Amino acid sequence: MSNVDYSIRGRIAVIAFQAPPVNSLGFNLRDGLLAALERGAADPAVDGLVLIGSNGTFSAGADIREFGSAAMQRGPSLWTLNALLDSLPKPVVAAIEGVALGGGLELAMSCHHRVALATAKVGLPEVKLGLLPGAGGTQRLPRLIGIENALNVMLSGEPLSVGLFAKSPLVDAVVEADLISAAVKLAETSAAAVKAGQPLPRARDQKIREPDLEALLQFARNTAKTAFKEYPAPLSIIDAVGFGAKNGFDAGLLEEGRLFRQLMDGSVSAALRHIFFAERAASRIADLPADVRPRAVQRIAVIGAGTMGTGISINFLNAGIEVRLLELNKDALDRGVARIREVFEGQVKKGKLDAAKLETRMALLKPVLAYEDIADVDLVIEAVFEEMSVKEQVFTKLDSVVKPGAILATNTSTLDVDHIAAITKRPQDVIGLHFFSPANVMKLLEVVRGAKTAPDVLATAMTLAKKIKKTAVVSGVCDGFIGNRMINQYSAQAMAMVNEGASPEQIDKAVEKFGFAMGPFRMGDLAGNDIGWHIRKRQYAAGTLTRKQVIADRLCEMGRFGQKTGSGWYDYKKGDRTAYPSPVVAQIIEEARAAAGITPRKIDASEIVDRLVYALVNEGARILEEKIAQRASDIDLVYLTGYGFPIWRGGPMRYADSQTLYEVARRMRAFGAQPGGDNDFWTPAPLLARLAAEGGSFTGGAA
Ligand code: 3HC
Ligand code: NAI
Repeated sequence: MSNVDYSIRGRIAVIAFQAPPVNSLGFNLRDGLLAALERGAADPAVDGLVLIGSNGTFSAGADIREFGSAAMQRGPSLWTLNALLDSLPKPVVAAIEGVALGGGLELAMSCHHRVALATAKVGLPEVKLGLLPGAGGTQRLPRLIGIENALNVMLSGEPLSVGLFAKSPLVDAVVEADLISAAVKLAETSAAAVKAGQPLPRARDQKIREPDLEALLQFARNTAKTAFKEYPAPLSIIDAVGFGAKNGFDAGLLEEGRLFRQLMDGSVSAALRHIFFAERAASRIADLPADVRPRAVQRIAVIGAGTMGTGISINFLNAGIEVRLLELNKDALDRGVARIREVFEGQVKKGKLDAAKLETRMALLKPVLAYEDIADVDLVIEAVFEEMSVKEQVFTKLDSVVKPGAILATNTSTLDVDHIAAITKRPQDVIGLHFFSPANVMKLLEVVRGAKTAPDVLATAMTLAKKIKKTAVVSGVCDGFIGNRMINQYSAQAMAMVNEGASPEQIDKAVEKFGFAMGPFRMGDLAGNDIGWHIRKRQYAAGTLTRKQVIADRLCEMGRFGQKTGSGWYDYKKGDRTAYPSPVVAQIIEEARAAAGITPRKIDASEIVDRLVYALVNEGARILEEKIAQRASDIDLVYLTGYGFPIWRGGPMRYADSQTLYEVARRMRAFGAQPGGDNDFWTPAPLLARLAAEGGSFTGGAA
């Protein structure tokens, strides 16, 4: 819904517009604005105009939902609006509060004047969507604040306080209150100046003064090439700015348009736009009643002060929430408290935290040894050993001690949340909060919804996640939830390829070149190979894992747990995290292949990457079908924020879509059919097979 209101104050027309929630400049709003501007221009009773958002904000820019669709071409474009503003004989003042971002700021820069509330933020965030400011931003901003500053604004994409630009022609005035009166006054003064024969100030007419233009552009290019390797937008921004600076405003505008279209059609922008909507979709839970209210959470308790308990606590301390940290004995508790202080001290040393804040945060931490001391908390997060018997003891105790209405959460990564809930007499209050290690750093939080989890408990978890700055994704209960369930298939393929003939370093290299932060073997060495080994041993004993992982087990039997023991899939030198290929591991692999009668074959990088990624995709399809994940874009977020999947590829499900699901399914079947291929593993999941046959996609329109 958009709405443009035209009213008159003296001899000034005030055009107040809105398209909630953020006044993105979709077709309707563009259409309404054009009509209002034309009306003001033609009205003899009007000497000047003011453009203002009527709902507390100016505009968040072009309507991203229109990108790539016919709506983008419909009616007047932003270019039409801006060209009209350039051609008007009457002054137009943009009155900015809230945000003026992207096309919103470009619209404001096409006005003759800008006045802003001191709290307003301005910026050109297009780069975050893999785009450049395509409605004149690359040409007008350098003319208003200089090339270097403009490049900084456009390459960072950050919204910035308008006060930073108070001394530049980007803003004529910054006011504390009564924005509209200030804007009307400015329009009147400007109209009087025009009547007195002065020209209207237009950004396009400002001269660019940059004595070292070439050197500046070259420096920017070099920096962009190393800092944004896989991303084409930063270089395009620099090119568009450089072109306009050398060839003039109009030529620059044309070049900007050409580069904008090129980026818009590219895969990186499509992936980043997908992520923009994925991030916002993840917090929507289809079956939550609209009137559900989150429970109040003022103080929490964390049980277990180990690796995860301490990391989890830090998140809440950072958010100003009191944490009672409970341990089995004083030694373990003291160690946990010391570890938390160490993390904060590290931040102080790096200048990320001031010393006074360290003490405020530590003051919110209350170490305790008795359950009675946590009876009054609103939320408990359990992070004790990964043993069901231990979890059972803890939850029985929590159930008997903690006040009614408190939320009881488990950080388990593999155990059944419904079983844990059933131990208590209040399964509706139990939920999984699966943090990732290091919990104070990793963005991802899987919110595991049990069969009986109450809607308001789920809503509370989502609200809290925002407060502690996590990306929360809802998962149903299953072995490994979304992320680890998929990674198990990926790891199985990595192992299968080692058996067949690839080396761990070849596999790591191939998938790192694809863009993963770390390959599976380097990752195993970092996280500790013993974790998986313990799980496997349990599964062998229970008969749930029949195919023995001979090589991985052998390494663990030799104590090669990874970096922490100085050797794993690779060898490590003291104080050096570099992974050196290990002759011992090569020997073990060779022996295992010989014992299994396997003649090793060469596996090329593209097969390695496809087998690893499609193993994720196929399991992702099952997870979707079973409704463990609500939508494909949630799966992508899990992989982007928790597993180092390359951002510019948009996540595994989006990547599969970009390859076409037909091709994905075809290639999977081919892997199954090759000599020694695992046909069962490579049978496309029913959802994937169906979408592949229909020419459908996982993410198209679903985000
Ligand atoms: N187009 C369409 N929808 C948008 C939008 C946009 N530009 N900006 C925000 N929205 C939507 C969000 O999707 C969300 O929708 P939902 O409620 O259905 O999920 C809703 O507005 C609210 O957004 P947020 O949840 O992000 O609200 P916040 O208050 O946290 O943040 C904001 C507000 C700072 C404006 C943030 O939304 C933002 O940064 N938006 C993107 C701004 C941007 O990238 N602008 C550039 C667009 S590209 C462009 O202008 C091209 C031009 O150069 C030609
Ligand atoms: P850890 O071994 O580092 O810490 C566990 C802590 O719990 C120890 O300090 C121990 O003294 C304490 N503890 C044990 N029983 C207790 C009890 N009954 N009451 C109070 N404290 C008790 O283990 P870690 O790695 O922190 O794991 C904790 C939980 O988090 C496990 O469920 C694990 O599966 C899960 N998890 C671990 C991840 C990891 O990467 N380490 C990632 C995500 C989840």
